[in-house]
Amino acid sequence: WGADGHRVTCLIAEPLLYEPTKQAIAALLPKSANGNLADLCTWPDDVRWMDKYKWTRELHWVNTPNHVCKYDYNRDCHDHMGTPNVCISGAINNFTHILWNHTRNRNMKNGRDVTEALLFLAHFMGDIHQPLHTGFRSDQGGNNISVYWYHRRSDLHHVWDTEIVSKALKENHNSDPEIMADSILNNATDNWASEVDAWGICHNRKLSCPDTYATESINLACKWAYSGAAPGTALGDEYYTSRLPTVELRLAQGGVRLAAILNSIFDPNAPQ
Ligand code: ADE
Ligand code: ZN
Ligand code: ZN
Repeated sequence: WGADGHRVTCLIAEPLLYEPTKQAIAALLPKSANGNLADLCTWPDDVRWMDKYKWTRELHWVNTPNHVCKYDYNRDCHDHMGTPNVCISGAINNFTHILWNHTRNRNMKNGRDVTEALLFLAHFMGDIHQPLHTGFRSDQGGNNISVYWYHRRSDLHHVWDTEIVSKALKENHNSDPEIMADSILNNATDNWASEVDAWGICHNRKLSCPDTYATESINLACKWAYSGAAPGTALGDEYYTSRLPTVELRLAQGGVRLAAILNSIFDPNAPQ
């Protein structure tokens, strides 16, 4: 997602955090953040071009082979050199474990790597729910598909990262990410109440299950993102209106699942 999608994902998570989770997060964040996760959820995008964070550049997505609408961790999770586990699902497993080990080991100091693990986890839980962050390698998750967004030149990846979110924010939520987050969360608990509880639960009592999120994403990418968006297509009202519910669903799932993961890591009394 772009900055707004990440902000909305983390704003959806915040009211779902239990008190001990909020306190643990506040202790990990810099004082200037005031316990506020949402403003820092975009940080991994700000640092990805710095030399020091070179290693994180390919952690924002995973690609499947051309036109394969199925994701397979062992086949797909690697960087462009073929190094295994270097992709968004590998990153979510890794940062979940760093945070889990940190909370089990009381002597461990709040090192910068633990703070960074929290920011990376919060960010990648957003990105993995953007359908085109599990897209085809051949078109770089839609980055190489030129389309028009209304009358402007754009690309399919950018339409999903930014354009749909930005139009909804402006037209439906007074350009306020907090209003958008509230409205998506209320909508979810009204319309998908029984599903919402299930979203947070992983099979085998795992804390996070990125393979599930990536499988959902490639299915949605094939069904809603790539379809009707051949190179050169002008995307407008029809595409926007029919795809917005999917964007809102994925923002909701990203936020609800981020909160569930953080609660089970940081609150020993949290359900499962
Ligand atoms: N952003 C940059 N490259 C990408 C890719 N291959 N897939 C998804 N998102 C990307
Ligand atoms: Zn993106
Ligand atoms: Zn990202």
